[in-house]
Amino acid sequence: MTLSRPVGYRSAPDGTHPPLDHPDYRSTAPRAPSQPPIVLPHRLTEVTGPLLAGERIGERDHDLTTQHDGEALGQRIVVFGRVCDSDGRAVPDTLVEIWQANAAGRYAHPGDNWSAPLDPNFTGGGRVVTDSAGNYSFTTIKPGAYPWSNHHNAWRPSHIHFSLFGRAFTQRLVTQMYFPDDPLFAQDPIFNSVPDPKARQRLISTFDLAATRPGWALAYRFDIVLRGREQTPFEEPHD
Ligand SMILES: [Fe+2]
Repeated sequence: MTLSRPVGYRSAPDGTHPPLDHPDYRSTAPRAPSQPPIVLPHRLTEVTGPLLAGERIGERDHDLTTQHDGEALGQRIVVFGRVCDSDGRAVPDTLVEIWQANAAGRYAHPGDNWSAPLDPNFTGGGRVVTDSAGNYSFTTIKPGAYPWSNHHNAWRPSHIHFSLFGRAFTQRLVTQMYFPDDPLFAQDPIFNSVPDPKARQRLISTFDLAATRPGWALAYRFDIVLRGREQTPFEEPHD
């Protein structure tokens, strides 16, 4: 008798993800593990994940500009794209969450107290579930840049944080989306911690004139690729 073994997921290509310890990004030093990781085989726990169905999503979760009584301040934008795996297959029904600073570059978070104004009409958190073709869309405002203490006169380029659960724990991805032609890229150690320059470029969204809403909002496309499965399922004897 044989049982089919769960099909594992491919590792990310070299250079796609930043190293856990990146000296230019100073706070990685105390956070990075001092021992090499233990690589676990992909068994049922790794190739499955929680089903975070649409009923958990609130009515205004996709539109960060209208979550309060008044409208959020700033440049209205649509951020949208397709989630697929590295085999090109759409990833439907997966939870996409974002969090970001307001138009002045400040987070609505007690840990952020630099001297930029808070916007009472902007919390900066959103979430949606991809549709059957893997598409997602948010309406939000363009976040401002903000200073941080990593090095002298350090500023983070405008960015939106993304979290995707995928269909399995091994597909989980937390990343950041940037905007085209930001003059702050060159001095940002987080953006530059991705070793492969082509992978770095994939963190930058694309301005999409066709997707703008005339008289209302600009639009940026950000497609996301999660880990695909190993191509060849195989069977092994069952004792
Ligand atoms: Fe941030």
